[in-house]
Amino acid sequence: MTRPLKVGIAGLGTVGASVIRILERRNETVTQRGGRSVEVMAVSARDKAKDRGIDLSPFTWFDDPVDLARSADVDCVVELVGGADGAAFEVVQTALSHGRHVVTANKALLAKHGLALAKLAESKGVSISFEASVAGGIPIIKTLREALPGNEVSRLYGILNGTCNYILSRMELEGLTFQECLKDAQRLGYAEADPTFDVEGFDTAHKLAILTSLAFGTEIDAEAIYVEGISSITPLDLAMAKELGFRIKLLGVAERTDTGIEQRVHPTMVPRTSSIAQVMGVTNAVTIDADAVRELTLIGPGAGGDATASAVVADIADLAAGVAQPLFGKPVDQLEKAPRAPMQRHEGGYYIRLTVHDRPGVAAGVATRMAEEDISLESILQKRSEIAATQDPHGRSGAPVSLVLITYAATEASIRSAVEKISRDGLIAEPPQVIRIERD
Ligand code: NAP
Ligand code: HSE
Repeated sequence: MTRPLKVGIAGLGTVGASVIRILERRNETVTQRGGRSVEVMAVSARDKAKDRGIDLSPFTWFDDPVDLARSADVDCVVELVGGADGAAFEVVQTALSHGRHVVTANKALLAKHGLALAKLAESKGVSISFEASVAGGIPIIKTLREALPGNEVSRLYGILNGTCNYILSRMELEGLTFQECLKDAQRLGYAEADPTFDVEGFDTAHKLAILTSLAFGTEIDAEAIYVEGISSITPLDLAMAKELGFRIKLLGVAERTDTGIEQRVHPTMVPRTSSIAQVMGVTNAVTIDADAVRELTLIGPGAGGDATASAVVADIADLAAGVAQPLFGKPVDQLEKAPRAPMQRHEGGYYIRLTVHDRPGVAAGVATRMAEEDISLESILQKRSEIAATQDPHGRSGAPVSLVLITYAATEASIRSAVEKISRDGLIAEPPQVIRIERD
């Protein structure tokens, strides 16, 4: 029988520990599938004494994961440390330089250094596999890279961050605070080591950058992505969304437009009856619009130890079976350098929540500024707090009230200009809330 694939695992946290457990119970199946068994030879983490609920005695321990990466005893280095730079980058670079295959779940690393690492892997004749880097247990990388050669993709969008979807779902359904939900997401192992990456949209952007490159055959360009997170979403926005027939989701969207590839990440109002609105909790969903297949949606667990480890093990099993693909689906020198479509030209509907001074002429002032920018309003909703209504039955105190506008399709540039003028006019008491609407 062929000799085993020898694996070294750097990082034994939420994902790394699950990989060891799954490999233990599924090795027979992996062996049958690849005609070769997988043997974990070496491991590394920061704290050797930490109780991880796994027996590490069969493995060689490395205090420094870079030493593991250069060890002659491993064919494949599984990087599960995390972070775009530092130890994770050194581990991957060292492993590739020494002719070892790499499996990683690290989207931050690939979004920043993907192109350089793909070149290094090519020059050394080894592969980098990263199924776990996007959408946890969903096989979205395999789908884009291997299942759609007969298609030209026009758009790709989805819920790509389990932590944010979990937070938004529980805030809406259970009335919990943002902080309570985030704490639970961290306890369950969904959040990044620094959860700012989740809640400010950067993690979604890293994943979107990877998917965009695979879907459109372009060089990865994370810096082109317009990014907004969910930290400014309030219970009032969630309630207004419900009243207006929407639900709020953090979406990553990549689309080929006349001016180039538009890539954006932001909270989005989606129709409450749409399929994406039904995706709740830690679940992720990715929809691909393409000419032959038309519309393809994949839904599944987007974060968590076992779900993510399932994707890592799939990559290891592929390596054992001798299946390896170029990182971005084709050799680096064949990737297109796509122009960036500017966000200012984005066109769509908008939800605008203004906290206005409740006095005569304010709504007219807001409507005038909208009209000046050629923005048509689909609906206007004014909400007074019950306290304000009791204390000021004639509405002359100027007490702040919420004025919610839903626009027909308008450009980002015109919306920003109108909102800026309204702020300058002194009509609002708080910074405005602007959420883009995606109707299909
Ligand atoms: P984690 O629980 O924080 O685990 C990180 C591991 O790396 C720990 O074992 C830690 O050691 C080790 N480590 C950190 N810095 C190190 C260093 N300088 N030298 C040696 N070891 C070091 O992270 P995770 O959630 O498993 O995530 C790992 C990777 O998977 C990240 O790239 C993440 O973005 C990605 N990912 C995670 C999920 C998820 O749901 N968690 C899903 C998809 C992708 P100690 O244990 O000793 O502290
Ligand atoms: N923190 C990430 C998330 C992990 O919540 O989606 C999965 O990539």
